[in-house]
Amino acid sequence: MKAVTYHSYGGPETHELRDIPVPEPGEGEVRIRVRDSGLNPWDWHIYRGDPWLARFSYGLFTPGERVVGADAAGEIDALGPGVDGWEVGDRAFGFLGFGACAEYAIAKASRVARIPDAVSDADAAAIPIGAITALGGLEDGGGCEGRRVLVIGASGGVGHLAVQVARVLGASRVVAVCSGSNAAMLRDLGADRVIDYTRESVLDCGETFDVVYDTVGTTRLTRLKRIIEPDGVYLAAGGLGGGPLLGPAWAIFSAKAVAPVARRRVVVVGTEPSHENLTRVAAWMAEGRLHPVVQETYPLERSAEAFAALEAQHVAGKVVLQVA
Ligand SMILES: NC(=O)c1ccc[n+]([C@@H]2O[C@H](COP(=O)([O-])OP(=O)(O)OC[C@H]3O[C@@H](n4cnc5c(N)ncnc54)[C@H](OP(=O)(O)O)[C@@H]3O)[C@@H](O)[C@H]2O)c1
Repeated sequence: MKAVTYHSYGGPETHELRDIPVPEPGEGEVRIRVRDSGLNPWDWHIYRGDPWLARFSYGLFTPGERVVGADAAGEIDALGPGVDGWEVGDRAFGFLGFGACAEYAIAKASRVARIPDAVSDADAAAIPIGAITALGGLEDGGGCEGRRVLVIGASGGVGHLAVQVARVLGASRVVAVCSGSNAAMLRDLGADRVIDYTRESVLDCGETFDVVYDTVGTTRLTRLKRIIEPDGVYLAAGGLGGGPLLGPAWAIFSAKAVAPVARRRVVVVGTEPSHENLTRVAAWMAEGRLHPVVQETYPLERSAEAFAALEAQHVAGKVVLQVA
């Protein structure tokens, strides 16, 4: 099978499209014939070994995992021992962690869900990490029912889904922060107001919020607190830059560290892509309440270009790799 592989830490220019053996599913696993793979910063943090902190998990000197990609959608092709509720030929999408940019990939059955008939493989592939990170954070922060929600980094893979998930969870007002070129997209997705961070500081927005969901970490919590209600919550999902040691974790750790001084609750957003949560977001997609924006779809052969576009950190929505 064809797969996007890498052999040492480095950028997408070092990746090779190679023929490698088709993997076999183990206990509790399914094999997916991949149609599309949605790309995420998770992928490039791992193949670059950046930040270094990640190398403690993925291999200190050389990467342990050798096929790129975490999110996939396609068709179940084989079942490992102990897997119930799936049949060969079922359409499925989910979070694989590794190996998704390949013609066949292995997933834990507990981390995939059915793709609704009305949803395309490309849209399903664009969903797992982004939507689950949005949903997990917003629910861990106490939900959105009747609350005013601010999403910073709202045009990105996570942010544009967080705006929609906040709406589904009953937010009374959703305000999005992104660059002006993406403002129309965010309004279409349900934002009541869009703040263009290139022209206006979010600190001068003239309103306060119960929930702040932040994927970029560019404004310190000690300053942001003035637009967060005293009983509000700051959801630390990620960060830009942060240096070679900690990367995005820097923004998250520092928000947590200053929380007592800022006197605001901080929740560190995690990703737990369970079958149940994937099934919930699939239902919202089927109902037309959640839809990913796919900025561009690239063929497998142009994966280096697709990852370079993602690494520039200004994709509007998602980039998807068409595998089959
Ligand atoms: N905690 C978790 O479990 C988890 C899971 C997934 C992702 N993450 C993290 O969340 C972060 C976002 O992920 P993503 O998939 O949304 O990334 P992405 O698709 O690459 O989005 C990047 C975002 O950054 C914005 N941006 C770029 N430069 C900016 C600047 N100077 N000031 C303000 N905003 C700027 C972009 O907005 P414009 O293009 O409009 O400028 C865009 O919205 C990453 O750090 C990722 O590692 C965490």
